[in-house]
Amino acid sequence: MKAAFRLLLLLILVLLSEVNGQKKKPGKKPGSKVKPKATPPPPEPVEPTELPPPLPPGPPSVFPDCPRECFCPPDFPSALYCDSRNLRKVPLIPPRIHYLYLQNNFIDSLSEESFRNATGLRWVNLDNNRIKKVDRRVLEQMDSLVFLYLEKNQLTEVPPFLPPNLEQLRLSRNKISKIPAGVFNKLEHLILLDLHHNQLNERIFNKNTFKGLKSLMQLNLAHNSLRKLPQGLPDVLHQLFLDRNMIEEIPDDYFKEFPNLAFLRLNYNQISDRGLPKNCFNLSNLLVLQLAHNNLTTMPFINPKLEHLYLNDNSIERINGTQICPTALVTFQEYSSDLQNVPRLRYLRLDGNRLKPPIPLDLMMCFRLLQSVVF
Ligand SMILES: *[C@@H]1O[C@H](CO)[C@@H](O)[C@H](O)[C@H]1NC(C)=O
Ligand SMILES: *[C@@H]1O[C@H](CO)[C@@H](O)[C@H](O)[C@H]1NC(C)=O
Ligand SMILES: *[C@@H]1O[C@H](CO)[C@@H](O)[C@H](O)[C@H]1NC(C)=O
Ligand SMILES: *[C@@H]1O[C@H](CO)[C@@H](O)[C@H](O)[C@H]1NC(C)=O
Repeated sequence: MKAAFRLLLLLILVLLSEVNGQKKKPGKKPGSKVKPKATPPPPEPVEPTELPPPLPPGPPSVFPDCPRECFCPPDFPSALYCDSRNLRKVPLIPPRIHYLYLQNNFIDSLSEESFRNATGLRWVNLDNNRIKKVDRRVLEQMDSLVFLYLEKNQLTEVPPFLPPNLEQLRLSRNKISKIPAGVFNKLEHLILLDLHHNQLNERIFNKNTFKGLKSLMQLNLAHNSLRKLPQGLPDVLHQLFLDRNMIEEIPDDYFKEFPNLAFLRLNYNQISDRGLPKNCFNLSNLLVLQLAHNNLTTMPFINPKLEHLYLNDNSIERINGTQICPTALVTFQEYSSDLQNVPRLRYLRLDGNRLKPPIPLDLMMCFRLLQSVVF
């Protein structure tokens, strides 16, 4: 018993020293000799910050130009992985790189030097860093850049001089309270613009702010400080997210300017019946409408094509299914199995209101395709 225990202990010690030996000598070839007594590593230079030290360099790469602090996958020569390595600055990016991963570091600025030769970049992820400002000369030369991710940084304004071929720009979770004049005007290929969780108010937007965004499909302005709906949004929008602002009212015909609008989210605002023109969501192409956590007492009119409607956590007291039905309500006698022309609503949330069961019969007769009602 005792002998077995001793053997086990010895084994554990041997294993531990193996592991330690490997840790201290990264990149050492398996066959090479290990010195009997490992010398302690030189002390890390003390940084005047609380940041953890950068990770030790990885093993040599098959690519001579691979920065030692990053990983160059041998079978994917156009990608460079420098994420989650406690980096303070961007290494020199080789010209062959198209896909650059720099997220989850402590980078606080982007030097022109690092990017000088990286003219083929298409995809740059800089999420979760400490960037306050992006130098004009860094961005201006990135003619091939299509995706730029800068979420969770410390930007106070939208970076000016954005590259003209961008398709996706993610700037959420910064401290953006300024949009410099004209910054979006040349981005005619931009499809997605994410500005959620910033410090934008409605006074920042004017009719020219988004001018030129001819392709914008999705705009996310959720979690900002908007008291009113912003003006000048591109009329090609397909998805508009405005949750968690302080919007109280919707101007007459505001959404009529967006003929393609299919997804509209306005959860967690302060919209009341007083601020809501009766027909403002009766938009021909709307598929999903989210109005949860507002202050509505009646159900708004909807279009026959709408499929998902969220009205939970408002103050709705009663619903007249006959009144709000977007098509003529048929009586039981005329009830046919022809479902061609009935409203398309499939999912309806009404919980968290002041409604008392049962669900009104005329509501069910109107929305005959309903698959789920949360009441
Ligand atoms: C950029 O490329 C040129 C020519 O290939 C080379 O001489 C120079 O050292 C490179 N600069 C950087 C910063 O890598
Ligand atoms: C909704 O809009 C359509 C088309 O503009 C219109 O014909 C219809 O009467 C509107 N619905 C209501 C309830 O006003
Ligand atoms: C909701 O409306 C009621 C009266 O209609 C008002 O007393 C209340 O303050 C409103 N709540 C919010 C959160 O705006
Ligand atoms: C619902 O609205 C219709 C049409 O406006 C009306 O005739 C009916 O009396 C209303 N039903 C109730 C229960 O108020």
